[in-house]
Amino acid sequence: MNQTNSQSLYARATRVIPGGVNSPVRAFRSVGGTPIYMESATGSRLRDADGNVYVDFCNSWGPLITGHRHPAILSAIRSQMLRSLTFGTPCEQEVLLAEHVIQLLKRSVPDCRIEKIRFMSSGTEAVMTAIRLARGFTNRSKILKFDGCYHGHSDSLLAKAGSGMATLGVPDSAGVPASFTTETIVIPLDDEAALENAFVQHGRDIAAILIEPVPANNGLLLQRKEFLQKLKYMAVAGGALLIFDEVISGFRVAPGGAAQYYGICPDLVTYGKIIGGGMPVGALAGRNDVMDRLAPDGPVYQAGTLSGNPVAMSAGLAQLKLLEQPAYEHLETLGRNLETAFNAASLSWKMVRIGSIFWFYQGQEPPRRADKIGRDSMKVYAEFHRYCLERGMYLAPSGYEVGFLSTPMTEQEVSRFLGLAVDFFKSR
Ligand SMILES: Cc1ncc(COP(=O)(O)O)c(C=O)c1O
Repeated sequence: MNQTNSQSLYARATRVIPGGVNSPVRAFRSVGGTPIYMESATGSRLRDADGNVYVDFCNSWGPLITGHRHPAILSAIRSQMLRSLTFGTPCEQEVLLAEHVIQLLKRSVPDCRIEKIRFMSSGTEAVMTAIRLARGFTNRSKILKFDGCYHGHSDSLLAKAGSGMATLGVPDSAGVPASFTTETIVIPLDDEAALENAFVQHGRDIAAILIEPVPANNGLLLQRKEFLQKLKYMAVAGGALLIFDEVISGFRVAPGGAAQYYGICPDLVTYGKIIGGGMPVGALAGRNDVMDRLAPDGPVYQAGTLSGNPVAMSAGLAQLKLLEQPAYEHLETLGRNLETAFNAASLSWKMVRIGSIFWFYQGQEPPRRADKIGRDSMKVYAEFHRYCLERGMYLAPSGYEVGFLSTPMTEQEVSRFLGLAVDFFKSR
């Protein structure tokens, strides 16, 4: 496969961009080789700077559930662009998206009272604001999070955070003073005893339990429903808020995300990725009494020059409108067929899946905690990654990252990928 244009772009990039990339996992460090530079994409296909074409199982890390360049999203963006890229004032597009999301959540998770939403420019900002709001609302300082759950790169949450830090094999980030994470309690996933113990020790100081209800940044560590219910119980009993970080799972595992899938209501929920339709967006939603503590009504500050950006709002609204029931059914069928056939092949690797999110793991039982994933399996993933790349399948360049299906994908594309995966893992 000719990758000369990608290689020369990367060589130029390393001279002017740290590590040659603007987000660390893109650098291919854990899978070897150099990053592929994409030039264009349509539907489920990417085309790189050398003209190679790939089926895209990375989906820009999750936002592109309807694929690349969906005509409805492009048309929404185009018509907004012609009016202005940004006003720096309130605009109708943010009202339309807010109304759409709140109505959608009212229908999908009627008991959850998700009544207001504030838009920002990234998932990191959304979670950063969620914990500030939880602290301001409860007048408590500590946040309980889980080993392997990633919540963006804000200082106090870069503790055992999975994602790029798992990929690079570093537990925490340099540059975060220890005092910044003293208010962050980290416990393993799937461990009721550790949870109870944290509340015995710190209960009166815990402002919020923060979790990815579908942990998808350190492998796909699907949790038992009982464990997620226990979080809700402990939060209510302990006077803390439950925050679901649905930056990946929101609008993907169901219209109402993991809250709908598991039937558990968080007090606050964060979104990103899909809600922006491919543009940079994050959002925080929750009950009126909590959300009204945000400035300007309340004392908890949050702001953003491009928050509620009209182009991003238009793209997000267009994508959400495409996600009707048949879209979820198509994704579920593709995913179920892939998972069932791969797992029927009696290999030493298996697949775990929820809706259109999938992950390959070594072993027979899907791990539920970060420390159950062997680092050796990452070497095998690196080979698999290269094997797929050379055969026109683009996967995230790290074995800790999940794969995504998108609505324009066909049965043929998925079954070709299945065939490659079975052939590859047969010899491992
Ligand atoms: C669960 C979760 N929360 C937060 C974030 C941060 O979002 P962003 O990269 O948009 O800042 C991510 C990013 O992957 C994520 O997966």
